[in-house]
Amino acid sequence: MSSGGALEAGALSILEDDPLWYKDAIFYELPLRAFYDSNGDGVGDFPGLIEKLDYLQDLGITAIWLLPFYPSPMRDGGYDIVDHRAVSPEYGTQAHVRRFIREAHRRGIRVIFDLVANHTSDRHPWFQRARRAPRGSVWRDYYVWSDTPDRFSGVRVIFQDFEESNWTWDPVAGQYYWHRFYHHQPDLNLLNPRVQKEILRIADHWLRMGVDGFRLDAVPYLVEKDGTTCEGLPETHEVLRRLHAHIDSHYPNRLLLAEANQRPIDAVNYFGQGDECHMVFNFPVMPRLFLAVRTEDKLPLQRVIEEMPPIPENCQWGMFLRNHDELTLEMVDPEERQLMWDVYAVDTEARINLGIRRRLAPLLGNHRRRIELMNALLLSLPGSPVIYYGDELGMGDNVYLDDRNGLRTPMQWSADRNAGFSRAPSQRLYLPVLNQPEYHYGSVNVELQLRHPHSLLLWMKRLIGLRRRYPAFSRGDIRFLDSETYSVLAYLRTLGEQVLLVVANLSRYVRYANLDLAQYRGWTPVELYGETRFPAVAEGRYFMSLGPHSFYWFRLEPPPG
Ligand code: NOJ
Ligand code: CA
Repeated sequence: MSSGGALEAGALSILEDDPLWYKDAIFYELPLRAFYDSNGDGVGDFPGLIEKLDYLQDLGITAIWLLPFYPSPMRDGGYDIVDHRAVSPEYGTQAHVRRFIREAHRRGIRVIFDLVANHTSDRHPWFQRARRAPRGSVWRDYYVWSDTPDRFSGVRVIFQDFEESNWTWDPVAGQYYWHRFYHHQPDLNLLNPRVQKEILRIADHWLRMGVDGFRLDAVPYLVEKDGTTCEGLPETHEVLRRLHAHIDSHYPNRLLLAEANQRPIDAVNYFGQGDECHMVFNFPVMPRLFLAVRTEDKLPLQRVIEEMPPIPENCQWGMFLRNHDELTLEMVDPEERQLMWDVYAVDTEARINLGIRRRLAPLLGNHRRRIELMNALLLSLPGSPVIYYGDELGMGDNVYLDDRNGLRTPMQWSADRNAGFSRAPSQRLYLPVLNQPEYHYGSVNVELQLRHPHSLLLWMKRLIGLRRRYPAFSRGDIRFLDSETYSVLAYLRTLGEQVLLVVANLSRYVRYANLDLAQYRGWTPVELYGETRFPAVAEGRYFMSLGPHSFYWFRLEPPPG
């Protein structure tokens, strides 16, 4: 095997040869079918996405996480795959994938795909073969079987609004099969060496085309064993180490980003010793950001970050506010979960499984300053931020659509028919566009916001630009400062000589902060948006007042000489 794909894609690209590129990256997550429809069939596609790459480059993001685009019955948003190495024809062809990667690289944007190793669709040829193959054969053992539904008892059901058990009876096989998600998604048996080989073949296929890495779906559940929780087993970590080693030895500068919705102490295990996943989504911090702005109390947020175990040098957290799934509350305490439900999902339609199916703007009551505050935290706390498509516009959602589809409606490009997303008749769109007054595409859309100097979109663009200018945001240490006010969060991000100070008022009222900056006596805080020089730090504490939900980003400049 060669890294020819990388070289081919690299020839036209302006990407730096940096194995740690993901540490400085700003990711943009998008479902292909929701982005832009080039041929008027009502479904977004690769040529459409390529047309819109200039928009993403202009926004300033540096990496795209593309959700599954593989052939699928689409009963789980495409995570129910029937062929992991193919492109669903409605999205385009393999040639389109290659062109997309090349065009993204040409604009300095890296690309990662979803790699779903935990399960397949029940229509996958492997499952069809397995159910008919003799018991105990290598083919049957592509999946996980049992004669009774009591095996692995006590393992939690994740999609608890939809499934009662992790086992479903298969009359063809005459056995039960194991599934951590929908019953139409049987779990692969990663203990079968052939299955492991298949996963490497899938990875090779896309890596040779030049993709920069993978978001690894549902990694804690890869391997199951009797008498365990079937989550995060040593054998699962072994699979990840093997994948990492394989990729490392064949392809330069690639990323593995794990979806591991676990407690901090378990989540960090997916970094291994720097030899498993380079990045892991920070599920523990995410709900605490929402709790913090709602309760106006910084401590639970500060504590969870301070108590986060250290991670290996080559690793980085993936920070996010929202994604294509429900805002999951699986890993918070029952009281916190109830509080989150009470304040963020008063409308019970918004609740699903153990979470909330809403986008960022509706969660925050479409309150502009709160939206800005949350994004400012996202882009200044440790980790690489992942922005969910449409959240840069403050797009809304539709809780009356099935499952999590309400968060996956067409991107709103303009006030034209179908929000400028597609020329198809409206009834042919894969999902309807949003037309409730508050989030109507007539007023919430890219075209309008690009023209309006005070739009959220242009504000986000400036925020992203600032973040990119200061490497301490992406690679620096964090130290929280005492502010004398429980609702004012203050922290320093430092990298070598670069010292950044973030002060954020979580409260809806005016607050003051009295910061302990003794260590920086004589230094001058310079506010990054306006380049405004504040009074130098004198003896004692540094005082400032903050408007409701306001935040400041400063760099600290040392005294001359
Ligand atoms: C995680 C994905 O993010 C989610 O959308 C999907 O439903 C589950 N994996 C199961 O495939
Ligand atoms: Ca199309």
